[in-house]
Amino acid sequence: MPAETLVAARDITKVYNTGHINVQALRGVSVDIHEGDFMNIVGPSGSGKTTLLNLIGALDVATSGELSVLDKDISALSKRQRADLRLHSIGFVFQAYNLVPVLTARENVEFVLELQGVGAERRRRAHAILDQLGLGDLADRRPNELSGGQQQRVAVARAVASRPRLVLADEPTANLDGENAEILLRMMRALNEEHGTTFIFSTHDPRVVAHARRVVTLVDGRVAKDEEREPLRPVNHRGITQED
Ligand SMILES: Nc1ncnc2c1ncn2[C@@H]1O[C@H](COP(=O)(O)OP(=O)(O)O)[C@@H](O)[C@H]1O
Ligand SMILES: [Mg+2]
Repeated sequence: MPAETLVAARDITKVYNTGHINVQALRGVSVDIHEGDFMNIVGPSGSGKTTLLNLIGALDVATSGELSVLDKDISALSKRQRADLRLHSIGFVFQAYNLVPVLTARENVEFVLELQGVGAERRRRAHAILDQLGLGDLADRRPNELSGGQQQRVAVARAVASRPRLVLADEPTANLDGENAEILLRMMRALNEEHGTTFIFSTHDPRVVAHARRVVTLVDGRVAKDEEREPLRPVNHRGITQED
């Protein structure tokens, strides 16, 4: 049975109006993204990667074209409905971690679960996901007591705690060294393989691209290439490569 289509974009354009200058960020992008994909959007700086992720994540709306995400027509949703879709169905990981500085790692995860309406189970769920991402011992630390790599793992824990079907990550490894980038990617792949969570990354980091099963290349707001590929190495259920 073919995998379900989670994102269907048809001839999407996006124009930013800044004063009297119009920037054409996307010039007709069509792409289907399927459940279970682990895909990368690559391309030079300014090619439209973040713009496309923001549209898929219902953070912004396209200027023209059709975009359906999780069976919802994004352009037909109110601001409130888009916020609901983001909160309940989509996990976000940003380049700059975006953790709440006064909350501990566990509280950062619990906070989002609370917004999502998770009740008494919150603490257990937060602990479980932090454990799974190797952060069990660090759960009571605040972001400034964690390394960049650890903070980004907390951000991933927060993004996936409520098991969204779709996780969007905008340059998630941009501030990480090689080892931390690799740890983060293995964990995301393990989540992808264990739970079938769909991941879409924007990046120009070859370390990330090496793990992708599909790579869409944007050039100047258009899809220049769309390739299926063999990802780097298989990971087992603990997120460790099988050769290890
Ligand atoms: N909020 C904005 N206002 C005006 N122009 C923008 C805005 N965001 C992005 N752009 C422009 O749109 C184009 C695509 O940007 P972006 O999607 O951020 O590319 P990438 O993530 O690939 O670097 C660039 O020319 C950028 O300057
Ligand atoms: Mg960007």
